[in-house]
Amino acid sequence: MDSIKNRRILDVLAGNPVDKTPVWIMRQAGRYLPEYKKTRAEAGSFLDLCKTPELASEVTVQPIRRFDLDAAIIFSDILTIPDAMGLELKFEDNRGPYFDTPLNNLDDVSSLTDENNSSLEYVADAIIHTKEKLNNEVPLIGFSGSPWTLSTYMIEGAATKEFRKIRSIVFNDADMLNMLTKKLVKSISEYLIMQAKAGANILMIFDSWGGLLNSNNYIDFSLNPMKEIISNLRKDKITKNTPIVLFTKGGGNWLNEISKSGCNAIGLDWTIDIASARKIVGENICLQGNLDPCALHGSKESIQNAASKIIDSYGFGHKHIFNLGHGIDQFVNPDNLNVLIKHVKDYSVKYHNH
Ligand code: CP3
Repeated sequence: MDSIKNRRILDVLAGNPVDKTPVWIMRQAGRYLPEYKKTRAEAGSFLDLCKTPELASEVTVQPIRRFDLDAAIIFSDILTIPDAMGLELKFEDNRGPYFDTPLNNLDDVSSLTDENNSSLEYVADAIIHTKEKLNNEVPLIGFSGSPWTLSTYMIEGAATKEFRKIRSIVFNDADMLNMLTKKLVKSISEYLIMQAKAGANILMIFDSWGGLLNSNNYIDFSLNPMKEIISNLRKDKITKNTPIVLFTKGGGNWLNEISKSGCNAIGLDWTIDIASARKIVGENICLQGNLDPCALHGSKESIQNAASKIIDSYGFGHKHIFNLGHGIDQFVNPDNLNVLIKHVKDYSVKYHNH
């Protein structure tokens, strides 16, 4: 057994009682922190920051030094896998990440490699550096994008407005999408195992664009491939017991199906009431979320009220990990995040004393 001191999140995921609701924040290492901006400038670019283990580990621990968080998440990006598969990832400020030559057909997919762990070793190295810096204070979360979400970037070239290209391919070139999905399932499974081997204690799958799909297509092209990844992880001796969090943004319609995927926790965006979500998924699964990220632009009192509402809505029980419903944005004042985290810790105690 590992010797991590703050075990709240690991306890929640293992079904053990905790003294208060644990909290971490999606995108907790990011541009809202002045120290992140400084290290990013030192790295030269976002991609250099991701690919330099010493600096990636530094920004991973920055929010842990500043706030009373219960987990760190490795600083990287979901688009490292497409980059390693052969689509060169580019990044421009004010535009975000993109690919110059997105996939158009089966031949394009055939030319991608799915043997890419060796070119992703910088992520394993960043995890190893981070574990040293964390000194067992809190667990470390590793992550990947889902096959569907990575496919959207690889086919669209970037996050687009309508996602018309990939949404049409769902209907008129399922062979192409299935071949891509198959390669991604293999790559992602191996990548997550590599992260666990390097020291990640929890694994999270970000399905940021699952909510674009209709129900049948969500099951076929997003949930089933994620289930395959989970089953691959359960078959591997390194990850067979590693807790897995699955987050489909816009997935509120499919919580029952997601709860049967084999994951240990479901990430919720802010559009669903957490009490309703709990009723749907039952008591065997943990929930993570789900404050509207924009609540962090409110006054101290409104931030506290918004957080209390979520904690009240979840009610008694130990299977809630507090988080935002999506990533923190770059314009949030870090002091407001401190208000939120302190309040979650103080206010939630009453729901754990039983
Ligand atoms: O949570 C963390 O602190 C870990 C780091 C992390 C990043 N990206 C760093 C990042 C994680 C977990 C991600 C995941 C990610 N990346 C997702 C899934 C989560 C989600 O938001 O739905 C997606 C869709 C991406 C793709 C991506 N990367 C986009 C769309 C952007 C641009 C958006 C923006 O905020 O500008 C990025 C860039 C990115 N990834 C930044 C960070 C901190 C901002 C880069 C910078 O300018 O410094």
